This record gives sequence, structure tokens and C-alpha cells, in this order.
Amino acid sequence: MLCKLRLPGAAPRSRPPLLLLCSLALSGCAGSPSVLAPASPGAARIADLFWSVLAIAAAIFVVTEALLIIALIRFRSRPGDREPDQVHGNQALELAWTLAPALILAGVFVATASTMTAVTQEQPGALRVKVVGHQYWWEMQYPDQRISTATDLHVAVGQPVEVELVAADVIHSFWVPELSGKTDLIPGHTNRVRFTADRPGTYRGQCAEFCGAQHANMAFEVIAEPRERFDDWTRRMQAPPAIPIAGPAARGAQAFLGGVCVGCHTIDGTQAQGKVGPNLTHFGSRRTIASLTLDNTPENLATWLTDPQAVKPGNLMRIPTLSRETIQDLVAFLEGLQ
Ligand code: CUA
Repeated sequence: MLCKLRLPGAAPRSRPPLLLLCSLALSGCAGSPSVLAPASPGAARIADLFWSVLAIAAAIFVVTEALLIIALIRFRSRPGDREPDQVHGNQALELAWTLAPALILAGVFVATASTMTAVTQEQPGALRVKVVGHQYWWEMQYPDQRISTATDLHVAVGQPVEVELVAADVIHSFWVPELSGKTDLIPGHTNRVRFTADRPGTYRGQCAEFCGAQHANMAFEVIAEPRERFDDWTRRMQAPPAIPIAGPAARGAQAFLGGVCVGCHTIDGTQAQGKVGPNLTHFGSRRTIASLTLDNTPENLATWLTDPQAVKPGNLMRIPTLSRETIQDLVAFLEGLQ
């Protein structure tokens, strides 16, 4: 929008640098979720609160600036003016400029407190999810469905979700701009966040509390689906994956289950029961690798397995160097875990 504006007097020749500046300024916004595009009743209340406070602040700005400009023009010094009357103190005025801001702030406080109460209110029939923040990924557990996965938080459209937030190591913060406000995950303390997705969609979430080198790459997605699709997903996740018995995938399974991988990762129905890293039971059905750092494609998975530290420096996955063949076999095995 901004880039479409034509500056008066700007010669056509100056347009490319202007466009470049515009695109640089806005490139960070491309595809980002906005708190002003709410997709849940709670996020809509937060957006309404933002607009109300902005309107109040804008009105105060306009009135103050108008008075200032009127004073500057009307009372400016003119040739031959005598010295103005000297005044000191004006009780009525001082009371007014103390009381008016106090009343406005009290109003903003009441609106904020009522919004906070509304968005944290317990909802009947909620889907319970436990989200564990790790450096630098999100563990998603569904205690009632006995599902454990990572990065993708699947929910049903229209069903309230109650998220229990805990941290495995340091403080993180759960934030899905289109669905909920920010809530911290604190070691040794359980917090809760509640939301209901109004419409189907994939909503990006982000860790919003600095937690280490890969804080920025600690993202996740809330995938809101119609009820039948969510139930389908639940059924697929509850079924243990088929472990291949022939071909590259079978060699990959052997390398995985006989290697260091099992120390950190779980694959249901196998001896891999590690709890340090993400559960990989249905890894092939996820959209991304390493908390949205890479799309989940065979090429990207091979890149990741070649050197996880090169892709996401400082993450906790440290593995011995693997041969090209082993990597290809592991990719065939992991991508097959649907
Ligand atoms: Cu986790 Cu920032």
C-alpha cells in the first residue's frame, strides 16, 4: 500500500531506490501474522481494546496539538506588544488537567481488566493440550487422546482449547497473534492460555521471550481444522506407524533404532523412547523441520541430518557425522512415518 504512493515531484528515475527502501522496510512483515486480523473471540477482544486505546490516544493528540497550534498563532508576539500580564497558578485548570488524565486512565484500566478476564475465562468442553517449551522447539501433548507430537498444534474449529504451559529448561513465551495474547512458560510453574479458533486456517505461533541463541527459530503452527478433519488427524496420530521391513527405509529404521537417535527421540511401538528431543512417531506428516526452520522435504531433512548445527546453531541435536548412504536411508525411513 505504502509503496503504491507516488511522492509529489519525485522523478520517475528515483522510483527504484524508493521501491527498494519500501520493500526493505516491509519485507519483515510479509506473511507475518497480525494481532489486527483476529481469528478467535479472545484475539478479537484484544484487537478491539487496541483500537479503543488508539482512538483515545489519537483524540488526545489532536486536541493537544490543536490547542498548541492555536496558542502559537494567537498569542505570538507582535511588534509594539506590551509585556503580558504575569499570572501564577490556576486552581481550576490544575484540577482539570490532573483529573482528566486520571479518569481516562481509570477507563483504560477497566477496559483492560475486563478484556483480560474475558480472554482467560474457563470454557466448558475444552480440548486439553499440554505445551512444553524446550530450547528450541515445542512439545505438544494431548493427555486425553494420548498423543505426543511437536511444532504442530492441531485443534478443531469452534471447540475451546485449554493450553497448559510448562517449560523444560528456561522461560519461553507462547504467542499466536491471531488467536491469543502472550503467556510465559516458566520452569516449575504452570500457566494457562485459552482460545477458540473461529475459522479453519494455519496460524503461526512464536516464542516471545528471549530463551537463547535460537529463540527466533522457536516457532510453531496452530492448525485449526473442521471437526471431521481434526478427528481424522487424531485417529492417524493414535495409530502406531508401520515400520518398514525392506528397502532403504528398512535400513534407515535399523540405523535409527540401533544408533544414538533413540537416546533422544521416541517412535511409538519401537524401542526408541528418548524424551529429550521431539517425538518422531508421525514425523513424515509434519509440514516443517526444527520448529518451522525448514520445510519438511527429503532434501531439507538430508541437509538437517548432515549438520544440524549448521542449520540451527546452538540447538541441542549433536550427532556424529553420518555417511551419505545412511542419511538417504534415514530420510526414507523418517519421511515414511506418516
Ligand atoms: Cu523459547 Cu524464546
